[in-house]
Amino acid sequence: MEDSRIALPIGTALDRFIKNKQGEFQYATGELSQLLRDMALAGKVVNREINKAGLINIAGAIGTQNIQGEDQQKLDVLANIRFIRALTKGGEVCAIISEEDEEVIDLSNNKGKYVVAIDPLDGSSNIDVNVSIGTIFSVYRRVTPIGNPIQKEDILQKGDKQVAAGYLLYGSSTMLVYTTGHGVNGFTYEPSLGEYFLSHQDMCIPEEGNIFSINEGSFNSFSSGLKQYIEHCRASEYTARYIGSLVADFHRNLLKGGIYIYPATAKAEKGKLRLMYECNALAFIIEQAGGIASDGKKRILDIEPTEMHQRVPFFVGSKKMVEKAEATINAV
Ligand code: AHG
Ligand code: MN
Ligand code: MN
Repeated sequence: MEDSRIALPIGTALDRFIKNKQGEFQYATGELSQLLRDMALAGKVVNREINKAGLINIAGAIGTQNIQGEDQQKLDVLANIRFIRALTKGGEVCAIISEEDEEVIDLSNNKGKYVVAIDPLDGSSNIDVNVSIGTIFSVYRRVTPIGNPIQKEDILQKGDKQVAAGYLLYGSSTMLVYTTGHGVNGFTYEPSLGEYFLSHQDMCIPEEGNIFSINEGSFNSFSSGLKQYIEHCRASEYTARYIGSLVADFHRNLLKGGIYIYPATAKAEKGKLRLMYECNALAFIIEQAGGIASDGKKRILDIEPTEMHQRVPFFVGSKKMVEKAEATINAV
């Protein structure tokens, strides 16, 4: 086996990278590697659908049915179907929880030891306007014995228990960014070759940044502490950037340094973002990249989930910025 500590050159294909890194896991059987390949493959399919999105309503351009003869669906539903299908066929997963499904999807797979939580299409308000969107996923190892029906404790695990997490960003390029707890690596999709290539090795977020990302339209219903922090950002002449697709906002801030905040507001008393499908995965990634994720008081990865679809306020990004935000809001 190749030594997994050898840094692979930029341009290494995803498959080769995953195979090489398998050595980082004691007792690795290759199942997690296969699961990541399944996600990457479904990402290619979803990427293709997204690229056609603008054509869907043009009569005759692609018709009302897709290649499998299914009716055209809204892209978030379609992405959900694609990822679930890839994970079901892949065989490594015993259960999936999805932002799009009310209940746990128990795959009755007696061999699968992994549970996946997924936001199949993040930023859905941006689908129709040709702005970047994404997919977010978390992978956990099931805790009850394999071969039995899925239990609540297999699903409601805290973020700290993730064995892998990642996102796909369908932007000006399509990217897959993931971690298995040994740093964060980013791969860019080359559509003519149908391959992802390592383009962002060992990603690290700057400790301090000058971008703040928050929907300031809700300013009037922010807590007074948060208002004060935003005033600090304005007084410091930071740059305001808010796409409205969490993955895209997160990715920019990861590369450039910044803070993303989705707070509790009058409209969304517990915040809007979902702990299991959005925040845990991005919290794992940001910590691996040297940043911080909190709910304003507590580390996201330490939150014990009580229900699948639970929401949580989210502060994520550069270490010093998140610390400053926390200190400001908690001082009031
Ligand atoms: P989703 O499309 O998966 O429902 O997520 C949308 C989320 C997130 O992507 C984004 O940051 C946030 O909603 C934007 O919300 P506001 O429009 O309230 O700012
Ligand atoms: Mn989302
Ligand atoms: Mn979504």
